[in-house]
Amino acid sequence: MIRIATLLLSVCFISSLAAQTTAEKRIDKSVDSLLKLMTLDEKIGQMNQYNGPWAATGPLTNEGNLVGQIKEGKVGSMLNVTGVKRTRELQDLAMQSRLKIPLLFGQDVIHGFRTIFPIPLGEAASWDLKAMEAGARVAAVEASAAGVHWTFAPMVDIARDPRWGRVMEGAGEDTYLGSLIAKARVKGFQGNGFGDTASVMACAKHFAAYGAAVGGRDYNSVDMSLRQLHETYLPPFKAAVDAGAATFMNSFNDINGIPATGNKYIQRDILKGQWKFKGFVVSDWGSIGEMINHGYSKDNKEAGMQAANAGSDMDMESRSYIQHLAALVKEGKVKMAVVDDAVRRILRKKFEMGLFADPYKFSNENREKTQWNNPQHRVVARDIAKKSIVLLKNEKQVLPVSKQTGSIALIGPFVKAKSDHLGFWSYDWPDDSTRIVSLWDGVKSKVSAQTKMLYAKGCGITELDKTGFAEAVETARKADYVILTVGETRDMSGEAKSRSSIQLPGVQEELVKEIVSLGKPTVVMISAGRPLVFNWTADHAPAILYTWWLGTEAGNAMADVLFGDYNPSGKLPMSFPRTEGQIPIYYNHYFTGRPAKNDSDRHYRSAYTDLSLYPKYAFGHGLSYSSFEYSEIQLSAPAFHAGQSLTATVSLTNKSKTAGTETVQLYIRDITASVVRPVKELKGFSQVTLAAGETRSVSFTLTADDLRFYNDQLQYIYEPGKFKLFIGTSSDNVKEAEFELK
Ligand code: BGC
Repeated sequence: MIRIATLLLSVCFISSLAAQTTAEKRIDKSVDSLLKLMTLDEKIGQMNQYNGPWAATGPLTNEGNLVGQIKEGKVGSMLNVTGVKRTRELQDLAMQSRLKIPLLFGQDVIHGFRTIFPIPLGEAASWDLKAMEAGARVAAVEASAAGVHWTFAPMVDIARDPRWGRVMEGAGEDTYLGSLIAKARVKGFQGNGFGDTASVMACAKHFAAYGAAVGGRDYNSVDMSLRQLHETYLPPFKAAVDAGAATFMNSFNDINGIPATGNKYIQRDILKGQWKFKGFVVSDWGSIGEMINHGYSKDNKEAGMQAANAGSDMDMESRSYIQHLAALVKEGKVKMAVVDDAVRRILRKKFEMGLFADPYKFSNENREKTQWNNPQHRVVARDIAKKSIVLLKNEKQVLPVSKQTGSIALIGPFVKAKSDHLGFWSYDWPDDSTRIVSLWDGVKSKVSAQTKMLYAKGCGITELDKTGFAEAVETARKADYVILTVGETRDMSGEAKSRSSIQLPGVQEELVKEIVSLGKPTVVMISAGRPLVFNWTADHAPAILYTWWLGTEAGNAMADVLFGDYNPSGKLPMSFPRTEGQIPIYYNHYFTGRPAKNDSDRHYRSAYTDLSLYPKYAFGHGLSYSSFEYSEIQLSAPAFHAGQSLTATVSLTNKSKTAGTETVQLYIRDITASVVRPVKELKGFSQVTLAAGETRSVSFTLTADDLRFYNDQLQYIYEPGKFKLFIGTSSDNVKEAEFELK
């Protein structure tokens, strides 16, 4: 029976593949016929993207005659145009063009559209791929209902420098986790494909290595070995291609001297060549023209030539293609085949999206209305928001708070804040004040009728004024329990928001000192878009919750965790430094010739004389109200051959009286290899929910493929030899075993 079912399934699978190929062939034929009808100017029009007249996310170039250009078929796509009404208005113009090629509408839907989700770095802390996929799905449903065809997400840049403001947009420092998250988000945005009206095209960005900007300064250059590029920065992009990402966006930075936008190696050789990417590449905002500033192009015309030849298919706001590409083709500097290839890629996506069949497919007022306030979306947002919160510390089980507590003082600038919970890359809607759940409201919905809630702001987020301290101290003194909130304003982390100091801004840590020194049971909650430095708080506050920016449902999610309705399960996706001087700091660094064993190992100390080697909080760290105990690791064999597999098992026990979820992490270390390898690399994780007192076996299966790395010839290989294997609760708290690949 099972065999028959399997057989049937494979027949269905094969015939669905065949059907796909037929559909693809049909689309390719339509693209070819359309291409034959197009003039050079019309082709170039498809490669041209403008910002809409209503909002902007970059420096605007001269608008020109937008209406006329759309009607002449000189615009292929618009960004920052949303809403059924506006998108329809512009699509109407495109329908007046000679060939009636529909416009594509693109938008930065980074962590939600109408319903705002936690910032991507926060979501990454959940390690819950299904929840992240569900979040991206909701964002796609809402954005597509508002006429958007295409999101400029996911951002899959690996980032190891918390000074860089855009760490908030990605999945953190780890390539393995980042690759799985890239895949989940692409799947979420694109759903089951573009047959319906609730899927948007994903865009993996910023290709490539944008997260490695020197000094964490946004837009800065990137200088790294090709091996590092392939090993650390490219895999999440490859994962996005494998998941079917429709588009890519290139990046502002140069890579080893060649701007990414004009970089043939990454766009043509790797992406479209080795990876066989079938979608199209859009430039980042103005990044073609910015090659002049890089000193790589002498003018906008040369920039256009370099970008087109390197494989940038669509020009976002540089006006380089629209102004110069026709001349470049006539002069033989850009081959017609290059233009045709770019246009084919763009048209193919418009066909796949069904826009030729119905250019107004995403312009349905009823759908827009229904999805606008779909209550189910908030349920999904609350679910991932509570899972994103990381319990950094919980001494004497100060948390969870009892709902019966006599009086709770809520102190700090985030207690009644609303829009600061949304974070960067989010939208302000006119009814936000009634939609966003503040911490105050979240707590109020939980506590008993007898609980007295007291409030004092204490200070602002960035202001230096301490006049509110006295009232805050007085308020805290009166209460049985204190919830203290601090963090970054919504626009302190994000694009062009690099900070040289990542301490808690303003006088907030001084407020923490005053309040914590009272000795009351106190939890400090930190809302921010990046790992911050808060040493005094870390050393003295009894309990700390890192809450990132959690979005529309922030207050509810915080209250779920505070009162134990949700037992925190988040784990840090980035290392938290002790001071900026430790940056860059990441768990999977290479061994040196003098690796220190601990902080007092002076002779072999490959770190600083005035600072610990270790981060304040390590990658993967995150506590729970439960306490989990790991057994030693059992290996299925001490050695295995390529083609076989190895199973590593631990038994995990919940020693507490509270059910909880643990993210069990598996790391490996290649002890000796032909190139130097990291001290640890994440290779697997498993989320396990255990009842109080429950014990369960958790197993991981490794094959030789999990042991691959790039050698000095950039070959992706594994080598026989000895490996260490670690399983544990964080990158710095693991059990250890050893095996051999024969
Ligand atoms: C950002 C991109 C974004 C684009 C359009 C650029 O400044 O780097 O990530 O998608 O603007 O808003």
